[in-house]
Amino acid sequence: MVETRRHLHTHPEVSGEETETTRYLEEQLASDGFEVRTGPAGRGVIAESAGNGSGPGIAMRADLDALPIQDAKSVAYRSSVRGVMHACGHDAHAAAVLGAALALDAAGKSGILPWPVTWRAIFQPAEETNHGALEMIEAGALEGVGAMLALHVDPSRPAGTIGHRSGVLTAHCDEMRVLIRGRGGHAARPYESRDPIAAAAQLINALYVAVPRSLDPRHTVVLTIGSIAAGKRYNAIPDRAVLKGTVRSLDENARRRAVERVREVAAGVARVSGTEIEVTFRSGPPSVMNDPDLTDLVRQCAVDLLGSDRVQHIGEPSMGGDDFAHYLKRVPGSLFRLGCSRPGAASTGLHTPDFDVDERALGIGAKILARAVVRWSEPETHEKEAKR
Ligand code: NI
Repeated sequence: MVETRRHLHTHPEVSGEETETTRYLEEQLASDGFEVRTGPAGRGVIAESAGNGSGPGIAMRADLDALPIQDAKSVAYRSSVRGVMHACGHDAHAAAVLGAALALDAAGKSGILPWPVTWRAIFQPAEETNHGALEMIEAGALEGVGAMLALHVDPSRPAGTIGHRSGVLTAHCDEMRVLIRGRGGHAARPYESRDPIAAAAQLINALYVAVPRSLDPRHTVVLTIGSIAAGKRYNAIPDRAVLKGTVRSLDENARRRAVERVREVAAGVARVSGTEIEVTFRSGPPSVMNDPDLTDLVRQCAVDLLGSDRVQHIGEPSMGGDDFAHYLKRVPGSLFRLGCSRPGAASTGLHTPDFDVDERALGIGAKILARAVVRWSEPETHEKEAKR
C-alpha cells in the first residue's frame, strides 16, 4: 500500500486526466488475477469479488484525482509533475481500497472468510470537480450494489484514530458565478461610465451582510467569493467584472433561501449601480448523508481494531463537500474520516502545498474497510433486514 501510494503521489493527475493512474491500478489488480473494467474514456477502475456470493454486494469507493497545487515537500516521493499534487490524499484512498480489495480476495481464495462475501472496489476519477461519481454510476458501478463504504483522510486527527458521524457529514456545495456588465471609461470621469468594479465592491459587502442577516443562524450557511477579475489598467474603468464563489449549506431550506437572497441583493446592486448583474449557480455535490446502520457497522469494526478511545464521534458536520454523496442518493452507505497526521508533528491541511499523510493510516483504513465488508455480508444481518 505504501508503494502504491508513493507511486501515485509521485505521478499525480488532475481531475479528468486520470488515465495513467487508471492504468497503474489496472496493472496492479490484473497482476493479482482480477478482471477489471475501466470507466468512461479510460478513467476509473472497477474490480470485484469472484462472484461466489448471492444477493447484493457491498462497494468500497476510492477517488483518484490530484489538485493543481505545487508540491512544496522535500520527500523522495514528492510530485514529479509541476503544479500538480495529491494534496487531498486521494492517493492514500486508492492505496487503502486496493489493499482492502487484495486482502478480501486473498481471504476468499484461501477459504478463511466465514461466509460468502460479494464486494466491489470502485476507483473513481474527478472527485474534486464533482463529475466522477456520476460518470461511474452511469457506467453501471452501482449495479448489484446494496451498500457502500468510503474513507477520507483527515489531518485534524492523528493516524491510528478515526471519526464517524451518522446523518449529514458534509455540506451541499453550490458554485456561483456573477457577471457584472457596466460601461467602461476614463478613470478621471467615472460619471460617464457604469463602473463594474464599484458594483462588485458593493455587491460583496452587501452579500456578506445580507445573506447571514436573512437566515436563521441555527441553519448553517457559508458564502465565500473566492475569485474576482476585472480591469487591466490603473486609469481605466473596465466594461465588466466577474466574481466566482460558493454557497455551502447543510439544510435544503436554508440553501434555497440563501440562493434567493443572493439574486435579490444582486438585483438591488444592479439598480443602484446602473450595471447589469447576472448570477448563475451550478450545483456541486449534495450533502453526504451517512446511513445510521452502516455508520454503526464502521464504528464497531474500528473499535474492534483500534479500541473505543481511538474511535471518535464527529460532533459537527464539515462545510466541505464530497461527491460520494451522489452514490448515497442511490444506496445507503457511510464515509468515515481516517486520521492521518503524524502524532506530535504540525498538521498540514488538505489542499495545501505541504500536505502529507502518516502512512500508518493506510493499513488501518484498509482493515476497517475489509472488516466492515465481511461483517455486512453476514447472512444473519440480511435475514434480519429482510424480516424488518
Ligand atoms: Ni478529497
